[in-house]
Amino acid sequence: MKQVFEQIDRSRLPKHIAIIMDGNGRWAEEKGQERLYGHFQGVESVRNIVEGCASIGIQYLTLYAFSTENWDRPQQEVDGLMALLVDTIHKEVPDLNKNNIRLRMIGDMSMLPTFAQEALQEAIEKTAQNTGLNLIMALSYSSRWELANAIKNIAIDVKSGKINPEAINQNTVQQYLATKDFPDPELMIRTSGEYRISNFLLYQLAYSELYFTETCWPDFRKENLYQAIIDFQHRERRFGKTGNQIKNEIVSV
Ligand code: IPE
Ligand code: IPE
Ligand code: MG
Repeated sequence: MKQVFEQIDRSRLPKHIAIIMDGNGRWAEEKGQERLYGHFQGVESVRNIVEGCASIGIQYLTLYAFSTENWDRPQQEVDGLMALLVDTIHKEVPDLNKNNIRLRMIGDMSMLPTFAQEALQEAIEKTAQNTGLNLIMALSYSSRWELANAIKNIAIDVKSGKINPEAINQNTVQQYLATKDFPDPELMIRTSGEYRISNFLLYQLAYSELYFTETCWPDFRKENLYQAIIDFQHRERRFGKTGNQIKNEIVSV
């Protein structure tokens, strides 16, 4: 039996994988622990998955770490999570540099406490020259926030004459999203057996393949990621065309 790793077709890797890292709280509660314990253990999964993506040559990895709705959780959990996220990112900078990983951020940073904004900005700047994996943290992010923000900024630029409203098309919209520098994810994974999008990349996931697993985030490891990639590689992505058209395209390439 071939190792999962060896079953991956390296010539057909997704460029961009997005993950909703879910199930930390339930995982901890099942073990009779505090929810925060689950978040702590979740950091190990982040390390493992980042390493896994970098080692097979994935170019973009977006991790949904904290949604704008998550601000409504109990204050103690919010504070604990914020401290954990900022502290981890800060501590990981030397390793990110060693592995040529560039840290990016999407989300409403203005909602973060100042110390967090500064620490994250510093980490982003210190890894800005790296050319390997782009690690995009979705922090204080929600898709509706992003879309409302994009519409507001388009309106401002129309008003000032910078763009012609008649000329607005999909490319324009894309240029005003927080993800303007990244291709759309081909594969979106959600852990913990929840089958929803929870305000994540609603526009960008238009044609993504969705993969759901019962495994909770603190148990999710490279092998699980590779399994998801193999599953992705067995799918026929049709983009509105027929299966025959797609097969003929593959033959004629
Ligand atoms: C995901 O785990 C992490 C964040 C949302 C920050 P949860 O904290 O949502 O864990 P569950 O879904 O309650 O188990
Ligand atoms: C989505 O998870 C957000 C993150 C993983 C950061 P939630 O646990 O907040 O989503 P819902 O509330 O179950 O939809
Ligand atoms: Mg959850």
